[in-house]
Amino acid sequence: MKKVEVAVIPAAGLGTRFLPASKAIPKEMLPIVDRPTIEYIVAEAKASGIKEVILVISDRKQAIIEHFKENTMLETMLREDSKPDLAALVNEMCDGIKITYVDQKYPGGLGHAILVTKPVIQDRPFVVLLGDDLVINDGGLPVTKQLINEYEKLGASILGVQEVAQSETSKYGIVDPVTSGNLTLIKGMVEKPISNPPSLKAVLGRYLFTADIFTALEAVPRVPGKELQLTSGIEILLKQAPVYAYTFTGFRYDVGDKFGFVKATIDFSLKHKEIAAKVEEYLKSLK
Ligand code: UTP
Repeated sequence: MKKVEVAVIPAAGLGTRFLPASKAIPKEMLPIVDRPTIEYIVAEAKASGIKEVILVISDRKQAIIEHFKENTMLETMLREDSKPDLAALVNEMCDGIKITYVDQKYPGGLGHAILVTKPVIQDRPFVVLLGDDLVINDGGLPVTKQLINEYEKLGASILGVQEVAQSETSKYGIVDPVTSGNLTLIKGMVEKPISNPPSLKAVLGRYLFTADIFTALEAVPRVPGKELQLTSGIEILLKQAPVYAYTFTGFRYDVGDKFGFVKATIDFSLKHKEIAAKVEEYLKSLK
């Protein structure tokens, strides 16, 4: 079985929920305290043993390339200015991982964003981490590593899921599981069901795919002007190969959504060594 060493991070979407902030600044670059969201996501991939990250971007997202580019001049200036702690932060995210970029020429949907990485991924299994979903599992395994561990036993595609409230199912891809329990084969998937969801297990921004997903995505009938949904590809994939849902451990923030972003900002600031005490005091002072 091939090892899972490559990750795809789709980050080419329009970010309409975050306008006007996302007009000029990619929403994946908006900081949660002092690090852009995308840096936490790359860090999760790195901590999970991933060696190569493919960032799917568009020409509006050049700031992402700038962020992950080595900046030796800034690092040197900070060292000369006796700021070694800051100097260490400038390039640490580029260490120990290869980052490449694939251009998504138009926002054709999440399925399309993944399909454009086919020439780079080829026949390798890979993980997908959505560029606006943070999952935190303090003290435990990162969610990507949890999926990789399951893959090493199953050798099949796995969707990271968690149960959501019935009222929330219309926001997510919902799986139709074969059995109950933390790991189950799935027999179907429904995108954002308004009523009668097949379960409460929602796919929350983390996936592990065998390369079969590419042929499945290519087989999705295309409708001009409509996005290529990843869910449509998964529906085809599960007719050809086993697809599992794994209920991961961790707390997920949708930072592409304003409330999710604010929640992450508060929670991360309460854990930030420089400001945690001040933020806590401030929050207590609020009525
Ligand atoms: P979202 O649907 O959350 O992002 O996609 P969006 O389309 O940018 O956001 P809204 O709904 O307009 O506010 C999840 C992830 O997939 C990427 C996004 O950048 C985001 O990180 N994505 C989405 C792509 O890379 N390409 C696409 O065509 C669509």
